[in-house]
Amino acid sequence: MASTLTTKWQRSLYRLARAPTVAPVTAFLSSPQRLYRFYGTQKASLADGDLISTKGLFDLTGRNYVVTGGGRGIGYAAVRAIAESGRNISVLDAAAEPTKDFHNLADEFGVKTAYIRADVTDEASLTSAFTQTVDQFGPLHGCVTAAGICPEGPFVSHTWDEVRRCFDVNITGTYFASQLATKQMQAQGTGGSIVLIASISGSIATPGVRLSAYNASKGAVKMLNTALSVELAPFNIRVNAVSPGFIDTELLTPLKQKAPKRIELMRQEPPLKRIGSRNDLTPAILYFLSDASPYTTGSELIVDGGLVAGRIESPYI
Ligand SMILES: NC(=O)c1ccc[n+]([C@@H]2O[C@H](COP(=O)([O-])OP(=O)(O)OC[C@H]3O[C@@H](n4cnc5c(N)ncnc54)[C@H](O)[C@@H]3O)[C@@H](O)[C@H]2O)c1
Repeated sequence: MASTLTTKWQRSLYRLARAPTVAPVTAFLSSPQRLYRFYGTQKASLADGDLISTKGLFDLTGRNYVVTGGGRGIGYAAVRAIAESGRNISVLDAAAEPTKDFHNLADEFGVKTAYIRADVTDEASLTSAFTQTVDQFGPLHGCVTAAGICPEGPFVSHTWDEVRRCFDVNITGTYFASQLATKQMQAQGTGGSIVLIASISGSIATPGVRLSAYNASKGAVKMLNTALSVELAPFNIRVNAVSPGFIDTELLTPLKQKAPKRIELMRQEPPLKRIGSRNDLTPAILYFLSDASPYTTGSELIVDGGLVAGRIESPYI
């Protein structure tokens, strides 16, 4: 009964919105995707059925996002893409300075930007960075957790300090950045989107490198993605993970320096036969952040040139 009434109410509102005398309402509902969102999960009574236009789903001006580890690398690629799509962006990073290009974003895209030096492993530092962001920008609509480190070495050689640091940055930092974003979005009652940068190293032993601590940390991030997506769904906070394969950033520099042959391995192992670029990742991050994915939570999008999928070539045949 309740759902029938709701549907009637929605239909009446739709007819009202179509009346030429109700111009402001019609303007508000002129975008099919807005109409669809307004109607929630019910099918809108559009003349052409329940299909909506996909144009503009990625373009959500005036929203506010946080990216941890956004000072360089993959995090910075996300920062630039978010700014380009018209959103304000607060970068939280431990480095003293972001990459130079960051300083162009505000003028280039007409958005607000902030660079806040913060350590994701430090409660006071991270909490203060979120508070400063909200003070400057207002409501928060999403968060990307890209801060991460990748210690390499045989399992038996890793020290307690190395492993603790890896878990602290990659797991605890991701956990509490997500928690702070969630608390803010819950307080606003707006919902939102959290994108965790995980890794294929959370699913497989990475070819050519010994990364046991990193592997374990990214496995934890993947499970956090699953747990949070379920727990936060009632608040309309979606949580998804992007898992890169080999992506050419400064994170890989020490691995390449230790054994230059690894560059060839990184090129040859993925079935698509190349090292990934940050540009391969940004559309995936934007997809999860945006209203293009309103029914997607708990997903992992693997961007690895097919590395995890496997290979047909073998030295034996
Ligand atoms: N590059 C790859 O091949 C690859 C593959 C899979 C996953 N990833 C993941 O992507 C994310 C980004 O990696 P990247 O390649 O851009 O690395 P990167 O080293 O280029 O950038 C990492 C950023 O995180 C920041 N950071 C590190 N520790 C921090 C801390 N305690 N607090 C705040 N900021 C901190 C650094 O200052 C830096 O700006 C990481 O989580 C990494 O594990 C990278």
